[in-house]
Amino acid sequence: AQIYRAGLFGRTPRVPVSPDALEAAARRRMSRTAWAYVAGSAGRERTAHANRSALDRWEIVPRMLRDVEDRDTGVELFGARLPSPFLFAPVGVLEMAHQEADLAVAAAARELGVPMVISTQGSVPMEETAVALAETVRWYQLYWPGDDGLAASLVRRAEATGAAAIVVTLDTDLLGWRTRDLDLAWLPFGRAMGIAQYLSDPVFAELVAERASRPRQDAPVKPGLAALKTLAGIARRYPGGFLRNLTSPLPRAAVETFLDVFSRPALTWEHLAWLRERTSLPIVLKGLQHPDDAALALDHGVDGIIVSNHGGRQVDGAIGAIDALPGIAERVGGRIPVLFDSGIRSGADAFKALALGARAVLVGRPYVYGLALAGADGAREVVRNLMAEFDLTMALTGRTTTSDITRDALR
Ligand code: FNR
Repeated sequence: AQIYRAGLFGRTPRVPVSPDALEAAARRRMSRTAWAYVAGSAGRERTAHANRSALDRWEIVPRMLRDVEDRDTGVELFGARLPSPFLFAPVGVLEMAHQEADLAVAAAARELGVPMVISTQGSVPMEETAVALAETVRWYQLYWPGDDGLAASLVRRAEATGAAAIVVTLDTDLLGWRTRDLDLAWLPFGRAMGIAQYLSDPVFAELVAERASRPRQDAPVKPGLAALKTLAGIARRYPGGFLRNLTSPLPRAAVETFLDVFSRPALTWEHLAWLRERTSLPIVLKGLQHPDDAALALDHGVDGIIVSNHGGRQVDGAIGAIDALPGIAERVGGRIPVLFDSGIRSGADAFKALALGARAVLVGRPYVYGLALAGADGAREVVRNLMAEFDLTMALTGRTTTSDITRDALR
C-alpha cells in the first residue's frame, strides 16, 4: 500500500520491484567485472537455472474465507523472535557492488530489523559492521581457515561482536569453476578482495609477518597493473601506514597468506568437535544438499542447517536447491531448524520454501543488486519488498502465521 500511495503522489520506487527489472537495472549499473562476479555461477550455470526452474515447478494452492485480517509473519530462531522469515545472506566482496559495502547492508538490516549474516569474505572488519548493526541480530559466517589459530581468532572476534550463531559454509572448501570470472582472469579482484576480516586479525598479522621474513623461493614475477592496484589497496588498509607498507614485503605476503589459509579442503565431520569446544554459540552448517549429510549433522550435534548450493556458484549441474529441501527437512524431523537459500526472488518463493520445511530463508543476489543501485536504501527496499510480498502471499492463501504454511499449501 505504501508503494501505491507514494505513486499517487508522484513518487516511484527507488529500485525496480520486479525481480527481472531489478536484475536488468543492476546489470546496467555495475562494471563488467562486478557483474560477472555477482551474477555469475559455476560452469554452464545449470545449477543456477535449476534453482529457479525447481522453485517454479511448485504451485501454491490458495485457501479462502479464513479471516486473515491480523497476521504475524515472524519466526523464532535460536531464541530470537524475527519480524519475518528473511535474512541477509553472507555475501563477500560487497565493495564491488557499492563502496559502502557491508556497512550499507548493515544499515538496511538495522532499519528492517532483519538479521545479517556477516561474511568471512567481508569488505569491512566485522567489528565495524557490528557497530552499524546496533542491536540487530547478526550471525557470523565462517570460511574455516587452514590455520587453527586464525579460525579460533575469527570465532572469538565474532563472539565479541555479539554474533548469535556461527554459520560454517561447507560448500566452498575450494572456489567453484566460475566461468565468467575465469574469462576475465579475475580482474574483478584488482582492488577488491574482500579480505578485511583477515587484514584486521592479529593472528593473520603474525602469519603475514612470518611469511614476509622468509626468503622468497620463487623467481620474482613482475606484477601487472591490476596486481599493483591490489597491493596498493592492501598497503592502504594494512596497519602501519600506506607508504611504509607499499615498500615492504607485507602487502604481497598478505595476499599470499590469504591464498594459503583462506580454506581448508581437508576438513571432515570430526573437526566440528574442535569448533564445539571453542564456542557455545549455535553452530549452523551452510551448504548441505544430501539427506545423509543432514543425518550426520544431527549426529555431530549441530544446531541448524542451511540447505543451499551457494546460489549455483559451486557445482555445475547440481540439484536445484529447493529439490533438496523436502528430503532434508524430513530427515531432520523438526529437531533443529532448517533454513534455505539459492534462488529466492520473491515473497512467494519464500512461502514455498517454508511450506517445504524451511524455518527461514536467506537472500543473496537480489539485495546486492539493490545495493549496487542505491546503496543502503536499495538493499533495504529490495528486502522490504520481499517481506511485503510474503505477508500478502500469506493473506491471499489464507494463512495468518508462518507455522500455518504447511506442505498442503503446495502442489
Ligand atoms: C555469495 N555467497 C556466499 N556465501 C558464504 O557463505 N560466504 C560468502 O562470502 C559468500 N559470498 C557470496 C558472494 C556473492 C557475490 C554471491 C552471489 C553469493 C552465497 C550466498 O550466501 C547465498 O548462498 C546465495 O547467494 C544464495 O543464492 P541467491 O539468493 O543469490 O540466488
